[in-house]
Amino acid sequence: MHLLYEGKSKRIYEVDDRTVFVEFKDDVTAFNGQKKASPPGKGDVTARISTLLFEYLKKNGIPTHYVRPGEKGFYALKVRILPVEVVVRNVATGSIVKRLGLEKGKELSPPLVEYFYKNDDLGDPMVCEGHITYFGWATEEELRKMKDLSLKATALLTELFKRAGLRLIDIKYEFGYDPDGNLVLADEISPDTSRIWDDEGRSYDKDVFRKDLGDIVEAYEEVYRRLRAVV
Ligand code: C5P
Repeated sequence: MHLLYEGKSKRIYEVDDRTVFVEFKDDVTAFNGQKKASPPGKGDVTARISTLLFEYLKKNGIPTHYVRPGEKGFYALKVRILPVEVVVRNVATGSIVKRLGLEKGKELSPPLVEYFYKNDDLGDPMVCEGHITYFGWATEEELRKMKDLSLKATALLTELFKRAGLRLIDIKYEFGYDPDGNLVLADEISPDTSRIWDDEGRSYDKDVFRKDLGDIVEAYEEVYRRLRAVV
């Protein structure tokens, strides 16, 4: 397969003019690439979790780029990604705590939606709806659809994680246009792009790596094992 793009944690291969293969690398990075490691098995478990979550969302009516599972990855529709990341928060932690001086662990009910401009050179700055439509990163209609799909996906995932004895704290989504012109949920959905805690507040996500809290592959395997049991 022809390599189309290599990012920090994934490689995208062209399969045909409508389809790509998304391969997960063992590489894990944090703080915009300043901290790096390659724990064996990381790509495989992240791919399995992402596959399980995309299949669950697809089954529950969320349009996604996901097509079918594969070895250390999945097949997906080719998409043109919009340069906007949508973050939905059920609980305050991470950047919002520093930015607004909130108490870590504060419940955000109903969930809070934030937008970030997808730009590595700028470190993905937070932006508001005004910036997004003004600079043409997405139209008002696209923004409305992205927000609606992000909230629907989060409600579904929050309920799934709850059944697995875990709490979905926050999550990041990306969207793109598939070859038929549909706006679909794209990229990945995994503990690399979300925060997941147990009832004691232990992390089972990339914070394990960011904050040196333990073995990231073991944490992700536990997430997979628990989700597998309830899906
Ligand atoms: O850092 P912050 O608290 O804003 O992150 C919110 C959520 O979005 C976290 O789950 C984080 O892993 C995810 N995120 C991401 N990619 C980014 C920024 C944040 O997946 N570029």
